[in-house]
Amino acid sequence: MLKGKHILLGVSGGIAAYKTPLLVRLLIKNGATVKVVLTHSAIDFVTPLTLATVSKNEVFIEFFNKETGVWNNHVELARWADLFIIAPATANTIAKMANGICDNLLLATYFSAKSQVMIAPAMDVDMFQHPTLKANIAKLNAFGNTILPSPKGELASGIDAEGRMSEPEFIYNKVLDFFNTTQVLKKKRVLITAGPTIEKIDPVRFISNFSTGKMGVELANRAAQLGADVDLIIGPTNLATSSSINRINVLSAQEMYDEVHKKIVFADIIIMAAAVADFTPKLKSTTKIKKTTQKENILSNLELVPTKDILASVGNIKTKKQLLVGFALETDNELKNAKDKLKRKKLDYIVLNSLNDSGAGFEYETNKITIIGKNNMEKSFPLKSKTEVAKDIFETILN
Ligand code: CTP
Repeated sequence: MLKGKHILLGVSGGIAAYKTPLLVRLLIKNGATVKVVLTHSAIDFVTPLTLATVSKNEVFIEFFNKETGVWNNHVELARWADLFIIAPATANTIAKMANGICDNLLLATYFSAKSQVMIAPAMDVDMFQHPTLKANIAKLNAFGNTILPSPKGELASGIDAEGRMSEPEFIYNKVLDFFNTTQVLKKKRVLITAGPTIEKIDPVRFISNFSTGKMGVELANRAAQLGADVDLIIGPTNLATSSSINRINVLSAQEMYDEVHKKIVFADIIIMAAAVADFTPKLKSTTKIKKTTQKENILSNLELVPTKDILASVGNIKTKKQLLVGFALETDNELKNAKDKLKRKKLDYIVLNSLNDSGAGFEYETNKITIIGKNNMEKSFPLKSKTEVAKDIFETILN
């Protein structure tokens, strides 16, 4: 089932490390080739000899072999992997991964990873519930890593609570899922727009909206998990993105339009989740407009002109092979407006979210959507995290 798959296992120093030989056995028995990288503290919990024996491969701990001087090339290791699992991931390793600290081979390999990374946090409950740990995990999740659950059960301290490493069988099943269903976009290119645009009035003022870019970033993460090459054209936001995504930062609607049209011919799937400003100031002053100097101050009667509708422009030129998905954020007559937009902009699908649904839209971590297809297909989903919503969107448009 896993024949030909290269799986890299990173083991950090927690008691759950004693379970990793079982995971390696499961992977090997099912045809995978497995290599293991350990931190120094991991070897207090599981021996390198055990892991080398079960993986049938040399294991890696140091940046270089101290006897021969040969470099253990972390870049090569990272690129070799089709999937990188870090199990157990301790609070220390998670903190370093989330904050760019690179003081061992496992971390250097993580920062060089091109493949999907699955992280299985494991630690005692108080550490697991600490806000710092939670913030670090949220950061790693936002970078596009898969965070596995840390279920409840007896911990090393004897306390019965959450924080255990996912069991080897559970991780193994996640690996199967990953290779069975999650590589459907291998060799496909996905183009996504996200975030707001800002339309300058003068060097210090602009018009914009409340979009955070979160939904678009989650879509980009999901597309990358599905094996796609992803171009993400994103307006100003402070969200970080994974290095496996080709991120192109833009400011204005015109810049977004230009970048989209540079990339469009390469795209198999185009999803436009950006909240593009519909209007931009007719005149943009290169110097700060003073409120006192002009009699008829232009700020008191700002003249706006429409921006180009990027989505409609793509609808007009897209080929039959390209799949085009738009978003509609509505406050009234939601379904009718979304269906009109689907037709008018020549889309294959439109994702409707209504500002009337609590927890949906800008600034929320959650969203509640209805997907409408050009063939009248209509599917509504309950309120979910934007990560889950991104999964639903791909599952729907790919079926
Ligand atoms: N969109 C775009 N370029 C624009 C405006 C919107 O690409 N200049 C895209 C958005 O990314 C989204 C879709 O069009 O996918 C719908 O955006 P929305 O603002 O809801 O629709 P509008 O066409 O602007 O219609 P209206 O403002 O009348 O609702």
